[in-house]
Amino acid sequence: MLPQGLMDALLNAERIVALTGAGISAESGIPTFRGSGGLWEGYPVEKVATVEGFERDPELVWRFYDERRRNIAAAKPNDAHIVLAKMERLYDFWVITQNIDGLHQKAGSRNVVELHGNIWRVRCTECGRVGYNYEVPLKEIPPRCEKCGGLLRPDVVWFGEPVYDIDKAYSLAENCDVMLVIGTSAQVYPAAYLPRLAWSRNAKIVEINPQETPVSRYADFIMRKMATEAMNEIYQELLRASQEERE
Ligand code: OAD
Ligand code: ZN
Repeated sequence: MLPQGLMDALLNAERIVALTGAGISAESGIPTFRGSGGLWEGYPVEKVATVEGFERDPELVWRFYDERRRNIAAAKPNDAHIVLAKMERLYDFWVITQNIDGLHQKAGSRNVVELHGNIWRVRCTECGRVGYNYEVPLKEIPPRCEKCGGLLRPDVVWFGEPVYDIDKAYSLAENCDVMLVIGTSAQVYPAAYLPRLAWSRNAKIVEINPQETPVSRYADFIMRKMATEAMNEIYQELLRASQEERE
């Protein structure tokens, strides 16, 4: 059973935005960051996810990312990613993700804003050249720029760095009818500000997360479920409603 009123909100919506975090990829076998067993538990953030850490020990940082690239290369999109991709056919639909795993695109989503970059992209610290590198495992650690021989870094956002495409994200949040907030602890800014912004502009906020988060305080609808289960339920109901409309 969906929360009371959620179907009406979805059926009346024109533009829907999904803000996703590590929780949506958890069921694809990619660990989340916070909490027990989280990725940050085994690795001090300041060593592997800051510019200072990278400058001190690029090899360590690249070994950490090489590990994650192996894990992500082996992962498949799950039903939650797939339902979001299908929803692009029903709505003006956008995914704003904090994830760097590319699983939304793999599932078929085309309207994806990657706030924190992408793990398959590399950027030269000397000449700024950006390219893709899909080697698993990496042939050379740390990898070097083909053009200038400079040290490459993962083109992901580290702590203290500005996120990508924030203007696009703000404008989507300000101009949507429903925002689905899926699998994020909503602790990292500016991403965590987006649902609040959407809410302040009268969008209905739907939280999908087995745990409580700061979003829970103002969300209009809450599904305390795994992402795959919740998104399958939503999609089933949407299909049923569109069938009834046709009959
Ligand atoms: P977190 O690890 O902070 O939070 C993951 C959230 O997913 C938690 O609230 C869990 O309760 C929830 N969750 C776990 N399994 C789930 C499932 N199957 N279905 C639905 N929800 C589930 O991850 P993020 O919020 O994405 O940034 O973290 C945000 C950012 O912090 C990351 O992008 C990363 C990190 O530092 C950078 O590296 C820049
Ligand atoms: Zn270069």
